Formats: sequence, structure tokens, C-alpha cells
Amino acid sequence: MDKFLIQGGQKLEGEVRISGAKNAALPLLAATILADSPIRISNMPNLRDVNTLVKLIAGLGVAIEYAGDTVTADTSTLNNQFAPYDLVKTMRASILVLGPLVARYGEAKVSLPGGCAIGSRPVDQHLKALEALGAHIEVENGYVHAKVDGRLKGGEVIFDMVTVGGTENILMAATLADGVTTIRNAAREPEITDLANMLIKMGAKIEGLDTDTLVVTGVESLHGCDYAVVADRIETGSYLAAAAITGGRVRTTHTDPALLECILDKFEEMGAEVTRGEDWIELDMQGKRPKAVSFRTLPHPDFPTDMQAQIMAVNAIGRGFATISETIFENRFMHVPELSRMGANIQVEGNDAVVTGVEKLSAAPVMATDLRASFSLVLAALAAEGETLIDRIYHIDRGYEHIEAKLQGIGAKIKRVSG
Ligand code: EPZ
Repeated sequence: MDKFLIQGGQKLEGEVRISGAKNAALPLLAATILADSPIRISNMPNLRDVNTLVKLIAGLGVAIEYAGDTVTADTSTLNNQFAPYDLVKTMRASILVLGPLVARYGEAKVSLPGGCAIGSRPVDQHLKALEALGAHIEVENGYVHAKVDGRLKGGEVIFDMVTVGGTENILMAATLADGVTTIRNAAREPEITDLANMLIKMGAKIEGLDTDTLVVTGVESLHGCDYAVVADRIETGSYLAAAAITGGRVRTTHTDPALLECILDKFEEMGAEVTRGEDWIELDMQGKRPKAVSFRTLPHPDFPTDMQAQIMAVNAIGRGFATISETIFENRFMHVPELSRMGANIQVEGNDAVVTGVEKLSAAPVMATDLRASFSLVLAALAAEGETLIDRIYHIDRGYEHIEAKLQGIGAKIKRVSG
């Protein structure tokens, strides 16, 4: 099992090119199922999760190619609507093929995604929304079997809580429904707007982008198009955090400041100097120790849960103390015991954590538990004195493209060791 060996203590300086967003790439790939002519998606990040979904879509009989940073798909050879457990269990966002398959082919059999380290992550809202559009849903033997005679019917969908995947699934399904669908309490993450923009390019009729109410007027069919995946706001924030925690200066390029204003505000609250360009962001910590900052994770446009672990790591060496509340997932503090092994002072009470900054973290062998927790351990190792060994880094390969090269490019002493 691969590990990272990181020699900490360097101020990181330099430029990082940001990749396409994992959490946009996955729904965009699922949406290829809706196109009745070839579709091309570029700026696709080469990640394990992306490759898993490409494999699952190929298993449907779709002619799908992934070359360089571009995926091309032609659904004319699609010959089944079955998403098997062995693929879905490794990448739970596979559930996003359910809506497109039912909407276009009238039937789908998709494995229920397991839970994952950060929570049970049920999909009840996805199923409730599809039923509101007339799908008949049966769940047995760990599979969701969804069917509709003829087309889905436009209707009213009201989510009990803000769900990114639920919003994406029903948005895709509604594009081919007969009539108008109103989606209330919709998630507003930029990745949903990116999906909506591609669906519109394919001929869909969607209003209310960036709001919590989406109105979709169904059409008979959607055609292919050329599209580029939006920049990854979480990857951007993660590399800017590397500058904040080491007192360095990092410029992230091929990104968009508008995607992560809430995070940039927090970096400024820490005392960092943040400069925004049209497609770049520079964070200069000027050799200073950041001030610890408090926050609650909430749906976009508030503080994203996917940046919680990374900012907690920065807080661990921050001045003063801060309170972090995780309101989205029930078990997203698994990086805490690992950070504590490195000398962090963090007290957890339920979904609240109080971080009291320490001058220096110390190197220790630690273990990655989930994607974003892995990056928080990398951040801590970059700031710690000595050599840190991080185990189970297969988690990080799910969401950070070329991570060693990107970190080495800004001066980090990191290498991947196997065994
Ligand atoms: C997406 O997951 C992201 N993944 C997650 O990123 C992100 O943390 C999450 O949204 C929240 O922003 C992708 O986009 C591939 P949700 P998703 O449905 O869609 C509950 C990362 O690190 N819920 O918005 O699965 C759920 O349990 C990953 O890149 C239900 O109860 O998240 C959670 O508590 C991690 N029933 C909350 O809602 C449902 O049917 C938000 O989940 C659906 C969700």
C-alpha cells in the first residue's frame, strides 16, 4: 500500500495549475448518458473516481474514450442499464447514473452505494425525487430498481435537506421528463451550475441557476456538445492552505476566485494577503503564523465541508483558538486523532471541535482515512518538523491529480513510497 514520505519545514513558494473539478466531472460524465449524439468533455481530471465512472459507463455498452484530458462518449451502442455493486461500492457517486438512465431508457438497476468513512450517506432523497416524477422504485438485495412506463412526468420536488447528488440526479432526469419540474431546496454548489450549463448546451431548458429553486422544462431529446469541466475550487483551496500553513506564497492558476469566495475570506481572516486575478489566486502568508479561524460547514455559498479538514490543519498551528462545527456529515473528524498524534491540540464534542493552535507540529507516522482528511495530514506534515510517513494514501489519489508533482513544484519535499 502506497505511503507518502514528507520532510516538513519548508515555506512553499511557486505556482500550481488547478485541474478540472472532481465533483463536477462525475455528474458531467453521468449526463453523457442523456445525449443521443457524441459528446466531448475536456479538462477532465485524471483521478481514480473519474476512471471508475468511465469504466461503469463503458459497462452500459456506451462507446466511451478517455484520452489526455478529454472524454468522448457515444451512447448509440448502450445495451443495458445495470450498474453493478463491485463498481458502485468503490465510487458512491455512481448513483448519479440512475436519473439519466431512467429518464432516457425508462429503466435502471443501480447498486445502492455503501456508506463511507464520513457518514452513512443515504440516497433516500434521490429516490423520493424520482418517484415525484413518476418513477416506480423498488429497493431489494442492495439494488435500486427504477422503472417508468413511457416518459417521466414533470412535477414538484422538495428536498428535506440540501443534497448535491440528489439535486444533480433529479436535474438530469427532469431534462427529458414530459412537462415542467420545479426543484425546491436545491443545492447551489458551483458544480451543479456547471452541470446545468452543459445540459443547456445539450438542449435542456433550465432556469434558476445558482439559486435554490431550479425550473426544468422537459424536452424530447438532448444532443451531444463540446464542454470543459469547471476548475476545482476544493483543490484550489487545498493548495492555498499549503501556503498558509507553511508561511509561504502560492499562486493557483486555471481557477476562478468566484468559486471559493467564502474560503478566500477565511484566509484573509487568518492574516494572509490574497490577490485575485481573472483565472488565478495568490496567497502570501509573508512568513507569518496564521490566526486560527472559526467556521461552520454549510451548503454553498457558505463554508464547504470539503475544506473543513484542511483549514483545521492550518488552525492546528494557528495563533489563538477556533471552533469548527461540521453540520453536513456525521463523522467527518477522523483526521483529528491523526493530527493529535502530530501534536495538535483539538477537543471534539459531537460535531464541534475546538482547536488551540500550537507553535509547531511534530512528525509522526499517521494514516489517511478519507479523501480530504488525507490532504489535511499532508498539510500538517508540510508544516511539521521532521519526516512524516502517511499511510493509506490511496484515498488521496481519488481526488488530487498529480499531487506529488504539484507539491514538489512549490518546493515540498514529498515522495511516494510503496510497500
Ligand atoms: C457531494 O456528496 C460531494 N461529492 C461531497 O464531496 C461533498 O462533501 C457533499 O456533496 C457536500 O457538499 C460529489 O459531488 C461527488 P449530499 P453528496 O447529498 O452528493 C445527506 C469530496 O470530498 N443526504 O449533499 O453525496 C447526506 O448523508 C466529497 O469530494 C441524505 O440524508 O452529498 C449528508 O449528510 C465528500 N439523503 C448531506 O445530506 C440523501 O438522499 C449532504 O449530502 C442525500 C443526502
